[in-house]
This record gives sequence, structure tokens and C-alpha cells, in this order.
Amino acid sequence: MEATAIILRVAGRARRVVFLGDFNVDIILDGMEQEPQRDREVSCRSFELAMGASSCIAACAYASLGGESWLCGLAGADYFGDFMLQGLESFGVRTTEVRRRADVQTGVTVNLVQGSARTQVTYPGSIAAFSAADVSDRALEHAAHVHVSGVYQAKALLPGVDAVLRRAHAVGATTSLDCQWDPSERWELLSDWLPHVDWLFANDQEALSITGRTTLEEALSELAGRTRCPVIKQGARGATAVVDGRPLRDAARTVAVVDTIGAGDNFDSGFLFATVERNLTVPAALGFANAVAARSCRFRGGTAARTRWQDIDPRLPDFRKESES
Ligand SMILES: Nc1ncnc2c1ncn2[C@@H]1O[C@H](COP(=O)(O)OP(=O)(O)OP(=O)(O)O)[C@@H](O)[C@H]1O
Ligand SMILES: [Mg+2]
Repeated sequence: MEATAIILRVAGRARRVVFLGDFNVDIILDGMEQEPQRDREVSCRSFELAMGASSCIAACAYASLGGESWLCGLAGADYFGDFMLQGLESFGVRTTEVRRRADVQTGVTVNLVQGSARTQVTYPGSIAAFSAADVSDRALEHAAHVHVSGVYQAKALLPGVDAVLRRAHAVGATTSLDCQWDPSERWELLSDWLPHVDWLFANDQEALSITGRTTLEEALSELAGRTRCPVIKQGARGATAVVDGRPLRDAARTVAVVDTIGAGDNFDSGFLFATVERNLTVPAALGFANAVAARSCRFRGGTAARTRWQDIDPRLPDFRKESES
């Protein structure tokens, strides 16, 4: 796979990254005066309509870094669909592969926030209606990389994830998967997907639940046997990847955290930009991804940071090591 990617680069083809999976808006009700109670009304301090969806936040972060970012998805022919498309386009994300259907409503997640607690209610709509049949050959044909995320709410996509990953490899693209949390914790079909995934992104809780192990070391070692390269996000502790059986850890950057919404999606895009677009090694990519994710934590929501390549300090130790070698 890597040899193919290098040949494509030499031939001067664009390093296009296609993001697909979920598609929804976030409605954020922050500062509730008390927990919501049955048959009662509760006031909150602020209200925000924001871009949601792991795949869309990642696509925006990738475009901000300076990469060629395409979103493949399904939107309702409604106000929230317009809102999402305008938002994606404002970041420079290509949206020609987003289909619109009048019989589908764009998905909505309502976030009820009280302090650090976040209760979410989701109307899946477009998330659940999107399927592999909506992923056209045109969307994949010039892709250097395909990133699939947020799949366990995407009920119609689930049986087609395997086919999408195989189609991506067949056109010479590398692949990554960030399936996000599976509310059923059954992690259905994941074993079928892992052999077709070049980078598996998951957080530590997801890694433990997927493997049924009790320590992250055990989970990492099991995942390393099931997929090419697991990359595990560990919140304020940074991230660990396993390459050729060797765990590589990078500590998180210290920042004044406003919120961690979308930090994981920013991490994924940072890692992909470093590897796909800049051809950095895994240790350097981990450092870059941690820095991009930490910067996202300094802003409210997952898309406000608008981090550019040049916003990340090039004097990070791993960058220095690579430029000297
Ligand atoms: N408190 C923090 N300080 C610095 N960096 C952080 C902090 N929390 C998260 N990060 C950064 O964000 C990355 C991703 O966070 P996390 O481990 O929460 O992933 P995630 O659960 O996939 O996130 P998401 O909720 O977006 O899905 C971490 O690996 C780290 O780089
Ligand atoms: Mg995540």
C-alpha cells in the first residue's frame, strides 16, 4: 500500500482525503441550572447550533491544516442540511459528493451540558440512511486516503463498511477507521474491517471495550495483532501507536482546556495530514496529532480552532529529530 501511495505522489496526483460516515448538526444547550426532569422545564445559560458529526469535524480540521478534503455523505433537503454544507464549504471542504434526499431529515444531536457532564439525544435521520451505495466510484477514484468514522449510528452503512474499505484499497488509497463508541458494545463487524484498515483510531475506553481486556497494554497488543497500526487516544495522557509490535507513546501537550469536543477528530486529521500529506513517520505524526488536538481543546466545540499547519510549532522534538536524520 505504501509503495502505491509513493508512486501516486511521484506522479504528482493530489493527495485527496475522503471522509465519510456520519452527518448531523449539534444543538448545544449549555449551563443548565439543574438536571432535566421528567414533565418539568429547565433553563440553560446558552444555546448554540454547531456542525456535528465525527466525519465532518475531521474533514474541516483536515482542510484547515491545508489538505485536500472531500466529504462523502448524505444530507436532508432541509435547513440543517444547508447549514452543514455551508459550514463544510466555509472550511474549503469539497461537498460535491454529499447527496441530498427530500425524504430524509438531517440528523440532530441535542447536547445537554451541565458542568463536565454531557447528556446527548440523537435523531439519526441522515446518519442512519447513508449507505455504501451513496459512495460513488467518482468519490473514491482519485483518493490517496479514505477515513471512515462514526459508524455505529450509521445503521445502513454498517454492512457496507467492509466494501468501502476494500474499494479504497483497490484504487490504491490507504484507509483509516475511527468507529467511535458503539452503544451496544458488541462492536459488530469490526473484526471483518480491521484487516482492511491501515490506521485504526480509538480512544482508551473504546480499545478496552473492543478487546474485552482490562489494561490498555493488553488491549494494544491484541489490536496490534488484528490490524496494521492501532493508534489509541488517551485524552490528557496523549496517545500511543503500535508499529511493528513496538508501542510508541507521545504525551499530550499542556493547554488551558475550554472543552474537548471533537479533540479526537482533530487528532485523527492531524495524524492523517502528517502521514498522508507530509509523509512524516509515526512518532512525528503522533506528536503533530497531539498538538493539533490540544489546540482544539483551547476552543469551544470541534471546529473553532481552525488549526493551520503553520500554527503547530515545528520545533516539536520529533520534527527536529526527523529533519536532522
Ligand atoms: N486535557 C487535554 N489536554 C491536552 N490534550 C488533550 C486533552 N484531552 C484530549 N487531548 C488531546 O485530544 C486527543 C483526543 O482526545 P480523546 O482521547 O478524548 O479522544 P476521543 O475520545 O476520540 O475524542 P472525541 O470525544 O472527539 O471522540 C488526545 O489524544 C490528546 O491529544
Ligand atoms: Mg473519538
